Amino acid sequence: MSHQGAGAVLAELAPEPPRVGIVLGSGLGAVADAVEDAVVIPYDELPGFPLPSVAGHAGQVALGRIGGVPVAVLQGRAHVYEGGDLEAVRTPVRALCAAGVETLVLTNAAGSLVPDVGPGRLMLISDHINLSGVNVLAGPNDDALGPRFPSLRDAYDPALRAELHAAARDLDLPLADGVYLAVSGPTFETPAEIRAFRTLGADAVGMSTVHETIVARHCGLRVAAVSAITNLAEGMSEEPLSHDQTLRDAERASGDLTRLLLRFLEKGV
Ligand code: HPA
Repeated sequence: MSHQGAGAVLAELAPEPPRVGIVLGSGLGAVADAVEDAVVIPYDELPGFPLPSVAGHAGQVALGRIGGVPVAVLQGRAHVYEGGDLEAVRTPVRALCAAGVETLVLTNAAGSLVPDVGPGRLMLISDHINLSGVNVLAGPNDDALGPRFPSLRDAYDPALRAELHAAARDLDLPLADGVYLAVSGPTFETPAEIRAFRTLGADAVGMSTVHETIVARHCGLRVAAVSAITNLAEGMSEEPLSHDQTLRDAERASGDLTRLLLRFLEKGV
């Protein structure tokens, strides 16, 4: 399977085995600049990795250290709206697993359903609601990787969440907490959908992350996830939603995200 091939390439080219994987969402590439002595591998050298089709996703892995911890930082991910190639969602996470990663930190750009948590803010994901219409583990199960029916209780590791909140406090950085609801995209939501999602208990909405969380929990990785809020969700503000606006506001949040992850890793994972 391609994740084994890609995992072997990562393990061979990494200056030392990565312990933490970090997946960067749209417009959040600046985090990769924090990798010291980076070895950069383009996705086309990693079997089964998705070739980037969306602006704001570089399509490369940076291997090195952040805050003294060996990391693999993935700049670019596959999305369901790109055509439903779920293998391209599974392979990078499983390759990290195969390369020896223990903890996965997922990041994304998301819309906020909480009026007080606006563009530029960070939200730590406490749980998710998967309304994307797919489950990335549908299909035959490889029992060598993980169980047929994995539990998603505490999918977002409570200890990692506490450590991220502690890192945010050290930096005086406001870090909200919330439930992330995943849609498939590529359309943004209607105002009626956002009203419905609020009654369901969602605090943020986006088009990624839950799939990687599911694959990661299946193979036993600990998961933490942070949303960079790029907009108030549809119907909550006057500003029209667009991908350009997502990228602009993600870049606003990426400085804070970099500082947060650096502090979190420095404190020891
Ligand atoms: N909806 C879905 N995905 C998003 C949004 C949004 O409002 N903002 C950034 N990604």
